[in-house]
Amino acid sequence: MARLQIDSVSKQFGADYAVREVSLDIADGEFLVLLGPSGCGKSTLLRMVAGLEEPTSGRILLDGNDITTEAPQRRDLAMVFQSYALYPHLTVAKNIGFPLRARRRPRASIAQRVSEVAATLELSELLERRPAALSGGQRQRVALARAMVRDPGAFLMDEPLSNLDAKLRSATRAELIALHRRLSATFLYVTHDQVEAMTMATRIALLNGGRIEQVGTPEELYDRPRTTFVAGFLGAPPMNLFPAQVIRDVNSLRVRTDGVDAALDITPAPDSETEPTAVIAGIRPEHLYLDDAATAARGTVTMVENLGSEELVHITAGAVELCVRAKRPAGVRVGEAVGLRVAPGDIHLFDKDSGLRLQWQAPEPIDMSLPDAAAVSVA
Ligand SMILES: Nc1ncnc2c1ncn2[C@@H]1O[C@H](COP(=O)(O)OP(=O)(O)O)[C@@H](O)[C@H]1O
Ligand SMILES: [Mg+2]
Repeated sequence: MARLQIDSVSKQFGADYAVREVSLDIADGEFLVLLGPSGCGKSTLLRMVAGLEEPTSGRILLDGNDITTEAPQRRDLAMVFQSYALYPHLTVAKNIGFPLRARRRPRASIAQRVSEVAATLELSELLERRPAALSGGQRQRVALARAMVRDPGAFLMDEPLSNLDAKLRSATRAELIALHRRLSATFLYVTHDQVEAMTMATRIALLNGGRIEQVGTPEELYDRPRTTFVAGFLGAPPMNLFPAQVIRDVNSLRVRTDGVDAALDITPAPDSETEPTAVIAGIRPEHLYLDDAATAARGTVTMVENLGSEELVHITAGAVELCVRAKRPAGVRVGEAVGLRVAPGDIHLFDKDSGLRLQWQAPEPIDMSLPDAAAVSVA
């Protein structure tokens, strides 16, 4: 059992906040990924949960018990670092058994537990080697085994895959997912890599400048980003974001700017007035389709990138730069004039000042005179 509650935790280094008013309730058995750009406070937050850093304010609870100032070794948590932090002079078996020796467990029970964990992670053949004689992936598994040996309630991991090459990283991702399922333990996992977050997380907490931008399932963050930051962080290439106006056109609303004129799937109430409203519009590259007859956007191809199975087609449409993800061959050339199509439901709208998502997908006709940012409900 390990439910982790982070309650309004902040950490200051001097006058600067590394983590600011972060609250997270992580259920037993979750795989929660702390995601965000370098320097956004992920490691600091994880280190506070581990007990390696003390919060400036706020509380951390483990299964309801306040552990904010508890010593690291007294928390039922195990940490796996990016650098693995293995002891170079000790064998794999001694490295794995270290946390149990430190707790003065009987030798026979240590040996038994080490061999169990080694078998789980396919390290049985390597127990007498030293870390220098292991590959990066094997070292990473030894670090995991050492974390597992005490059977902790929760695992804390700080970019554990970042020293592995691309192929091994993808294999180890799959192993971690399987391991999480098998152990049914709580995982709190730090990464700046959106692919790791999207593939492994049951929920993602996306951090920006020490604050949480959004918490939710990978699908929620990808499909309904709460802010322009989330919209721009997830997705490669990221969502196309551009300033535009939402205007009323008889009985529908449209998003319009120089180069773009696309219908939205909002039906305004017949008697409502809708003043043009400045917004940030967002469209994912995979939601734009090259279509000669289409008028949602019209522009000129400026570059075509070959990704193998797909092409990224870059287009300048009036004042807007758009990236389109198309099946290869997209059949267009640099300099060519093209039209683009987008489904009305695939256009995201954000407040132009706060960057907050505008709740605009009305289930039934309502007064869609777009409210000001303060009154807007965010999804
Ligand atoms: N011990 C420290 N002393 C001073 N500043 C620190 C310390 N640790 C981290 N920071 C600062 O806190 C911010 C967040 O750092 P960190 O948690 O390591 O970010 P991340 O892991 O997301 O890259 C950064 O601006 C970093 O420079
Ligand atoms: Mg870090």
